[in-house]
Amino acid sequence: MSEHVTSIEVLRRLEAEALGAVAAAGDLPALEALRVLYLGRKEGRISSILRGLGRLSPEERPAVGAEANRVKEAVQAAIEDRKGEVVLGRAEARLPVDLSLPGRPVWRGGRHPVTQVVDEIWAIFRSMGFTRARGPEVETSWYNFVALNTPLDHPAVDEADTLYLKSELLLRTHTSPVQVRTMERYEPPVRIIAPGMVYRRDTPDATHTPAFLQLEGLVVDEGITFVDFKATLAEFARRFWGPGTRVRFRPSFFPFTEPSAEVDVKRVVSRPDGSTEETDWLEIMGAGMVDPAVLENVGYDPERYTGFAFGMGPARMAALKYGIRDIRVFFDNDIRFLNQFARP
Ligand code: PHE
Repeated sequence: MSEHVTSIEVLRRLEAEALGAVAAAGDLPALEALRVLYLGRKEGRISSILRGLGRLSPEERPAVGAEANRVKEAVQAAIEDRKGEVVLGRAEARLPVDLSLPGRPVWRGGRHPVTQVVDEIWAIFRSMGFTRARGPEVETSWYNFVALNTPLDHPAVDEADTLYLKSELLLRTHTSPVQVRTMERYEPPVRIIAPGMVYRRDTPDATHTPAFLQLEGLVVDEGITFVDFKATLAEFARRFWGPGTRVRFRPSFFPFTEPSAEVDVKRVVSRPDGSTEETDWLEIMGAGMVDPAVLENVGYDPERYTGFAFGMGPARMAALKYGIRDIRVFFDNDIRFLNQFARP
């Protein structure tokens, strides 16, 4: 009797001592030393008591054995818990919460620089009373060529320049077929802007891509003259390129306009020191008075109606505006390039 009371007391004291030491241990080596001290198979103080059970009387053995096992498990569990705390504590010490750190930036999308140019051009023409029009990218040779007074033996019709899907079906090579489709559907007055993708059989280089945006304009009404044509495009050029811009109409040729012109601008740009200089003449669009043959093809009376049309490339305009020498950067979708055009 006395022997087993003593053993149980010893066990309880050992337990209290062990749990106190474990709670005070500050790192993993200290916990390992405690494990060896109390639970080590050879010298461990609790293990020794378990090993000495054989010396006890058969009556005493079960109670002392049960208590020894309970204490062993309690000390084991305490060591494991403390290990977790010690490791976590170290992680916290390594990663303090620093409330002065700046927040993570929120990524915001922005409009593509070429889209921004389309929107700027559109805003100018909208203020002059134009509306928006569109047409399909897959066209027939009638809309893309024939109705636009372009005979089928014209070089543009050739497979070397045009991407055909079937003999009569092609990817439009310009937005001018939207002129025809619009005039077929509506009576004059017509005042439209039609931006859209066009396709040409071109090898990509600094100034060409096989797919690109074009922006078409068309005005048809009674009494539209060459003066309206020049004044409208000069007004657009000055509003897009800034005050002081000079505009030049150079004779040219398109099968669907007569007379035809290429429109050039000379911009005034400011130097870093605040002074200004004029650029070279920059070609910004093809244009002309609508050829009476085109009006006839859509059922307009060319004796009654006249008009003008123009077509420009927004990527080219964006390249001129931002001083970009290789338009392929517009298609690389490199976020470092595009971010420079982000607007809040
Ligand atoms: N469609 C012509 C081109 O792609 C541009 C143009 C449009 C010229 C309208 C005159 C009138 O080059």
